[in-house]
Amino acid sequence: MKKDRVLVTSALPYVNNVPHLGNLVCVISADVYARYLRLKGENVIYVLGTDEHGTTTETRALKEGLTPREVCDKYAKIHKKIYDWFECSPDCWGRSSSKHNHELTKDIFLKLLRNGYIIESEVEQAYCEKCQRFLSDRYIFGVCPFCGYENARGDQCEKCGKLLEPKMLLQPRCEICSTTPVFKRSKHLFIDLPKIEPKLRKWIAKNESKWSLNARTMTHAWLKEGLQPRCITRDLKWGIPVPYKGYENKVFYSWFDAPIAYISITKENRTDWREWWLNPERVNLVQFMGKDNIPFHTILFPASLIGTGDNYTLMNEISVNEYLNYEGGMFSKSKHVGVFGDDAIDTGIKPDVYRYYIMVNRPEKTDTEFAWEDFMEKNNNELVANLGNLVYRTTSFVYRFMNGLAPNPKKPLPKYAQEFVKEWKAIVTKIDNALAKIELKRALRGVMELSKLGNRFFQEHQPWKGIKENPDEANTTIYLLINLVKDLAILVAPYLPATSCGIQEQLRISGLSWASLCQLSIEPGHTISKPKILFEKIDKAKVEELKARFSGQGKAEHPLAKLELRVAEVLSVVEHPKADKLYILKINLGKEQRQIIAGLRGHMPKEDLVGKRIVVVANLEPATLRGEESNGMLLAAVKGNQLRVLEAPRSKPGMRVYAEGVEFKSGLGRITLNELKEAKLAVEQGMVVSRANGKPKPLRTKHEPIKVDMPDGSSVE
Ligand code: MF3
Ligand code: ZN
Repeated sequence: MKKDRVLVTSALPYVNNVPHLGNLVCVISADVYARYLRLKGENVIYVLGTDEHGTTTETRALKEGLTPREVCDKYAKIHKKIYDWFECSPDCWGRSSSKHNHELTKDIFLKLLRNGYIIESEVEQAYCEKCQRFLSDRYIFGVCPFCGYENARGDQCEKCGKLLEPKMLLQPRCEICSTTPVFKRSKHLFIDLPKIEPKLRKWIAKNESKWSLNARTMTHAWLKEGLQPRCITRDLKWGIPVPYKGYENKVFYSWFDAPIAYISITKENRTDWREWWLNPERVNLVQFMGKDNIPFHTILFPASLIGTGDNYTLMNEISVNEYLNYEGGMFSKSKHVGVFGDDAIDTGIKPDVYRYYIMVNRPEKTDTEFAWEDFMEKNNNELVANLGNLVYRTTSFVYRFMNGLAPNPKKPLPKYAQEFVKEWKAIVTKIDNALAKIELKRALRGVMELSKLGNRFFQEHQPWKGIKENPDEANTTIYLLINLVKDLAILVAPYLPATSCGIQEQLRISGLSWASLCQLSIEPGHTISKPKILFEKIDKAKVEELKARFSGQGKAEHPLAKLELRVAEVLSVVEHPKADKLYILKINLGKEQRQIIAGLRGHMPKEDLVGKRIVVVANLEPATLRGEESNGMLLAAVKGNQLRVLEAPRSKPGMRVYAEGVEFKSGLGRITLNELKEAKLAVEQGMVVSRANGKPKPLRTKHEPIKVDMPDGSSVE
């Protein structure tokens, strides 16, 4: 049976952070390819979504004072908004934490179990008794045994590069709370890859001729090393529960359930999902991903599907990208280096320009670089001076000198015109061949080459002179060029959808398809509309500004990031025996109780304080005040001799108090009073805000903003 459907997937990006331009390479690549297939009239669907389980989500939740579910809901929305802005056009969108994925993952696991492909074994793992969680290798820090670097990770020392194991670290500590972890033994389930290997090898042999070289090389390296059983369970709370006795406190490994989400996302969106995922004879499955994803898609995921015994559609083609780096380094959210999706939206540069730059720089065989100078040059020389120029000079010529009507060429076409059409066709064929092989960068270069050919033709035949001296030639030139511009509207459509729409509007055409390429379908007398500029130049000053904005310098960490603010419940209050202005408070911080000293005597009776949910600085250097220890400090708004304690009546003890967009940096240790002052806390219109770094940022818990009934200009201390 002939295949007549194409199923396109993009690796599902991790939900625990805002995606950066490097993460967008894979998503946009899949989008370009899917759009190309649609224009060709293929029966295609493109599946995209977020990868939501695992340690990184749990850690992010702890950092932001949210639950993992809340983290996922928050970031999935951000991801969707970013992909929409970049004009990604998935037919199916979803999330790996959906109930559909829970169901399907369990179903696949139970089939693997029934077919004898699941084995059990015990492993030793680091455990933090304070946080009550197992720590994956990357979440333990300690001193590197080789070079003495103090912040080495459990899997690798960033300083000397040596690979480590958690047990090798000296003075190991938990990333979240800095407690020394213990090592515990724990049972886990493994998928028996060696047992599935014969079937897997058969499938690989049948399909690999269509895989990229890096995918083949890496897969064979794995096979050669000898497949090992692979652990598919984790000691985490956030994930898909394992339906197996004794595994009530465990969940599936996120790399087990994430690829299954390709299927469940389709299922959630389409009733005909079986015709896509259980139809290998008819469906060509094309998967896009970054190079670190290869073995999961060529070994683990297909093995999971093969092991079920069901007739799943398995990957046929794979398109692997390397990495897009940023200005000679790496993207880093915490260091504010690089352009993230939300930043891109704020730059005022259109999505098509980013799409162009990312695709023309697509890291296909080696890593490539996002660099602003180069971005400016490519925008100015390629989009503005080549593509934009050809479209504009052609349409405005028709508009100004031909009353907006496509001209009548000389018939039959003169020799030079036929030559031109021949060259044009050759380039279109080249572009089409490249796209069919998913060589997206080469195809895009071809598009620009075609535009250049058009510009050269315009230049050589000088229609601005011809219109007076040789109208036949001018008419023929413009007739061909307006048709070439029509072809460009088709050819750029997968890459630059908005630009394609813009050209179509100007030409007053619609419903383009790949089949109309190279056809002179814009006929004499066809009316066009008023030309518009497609692309704007970017100047040096703007580039300098953007470079500085995303360089990580100058953008110092917000002083609030150092402050660990939490809600506390006042348990008891007594007078300080040796100071007549001070109270001694016992407070409940959720996971612990503490004593703090507050200068509130004379401002409010102690009975009024008991039971209140107040806001405290939990990581202030402890102090001893007249013989009593104060471990933290409560915050109050003050003006003259008026004073009010900050409260969060609807929030639970221990909850984080934060400002939207400022992430608390754990692990910095205790702070001083001066550092607290840098946050410039104040009252504005009844809200508590931080006035540091410009725009005031209101403080809140996840349940409520921190309000206080005090006049503007009150300080908070
Ligand atoms: N979240 C992974 C990454 O960004 C990719 C997951 S792909 C899937 O590297 F197959 F698991 F969905
Ligand atoms: Zn811990």
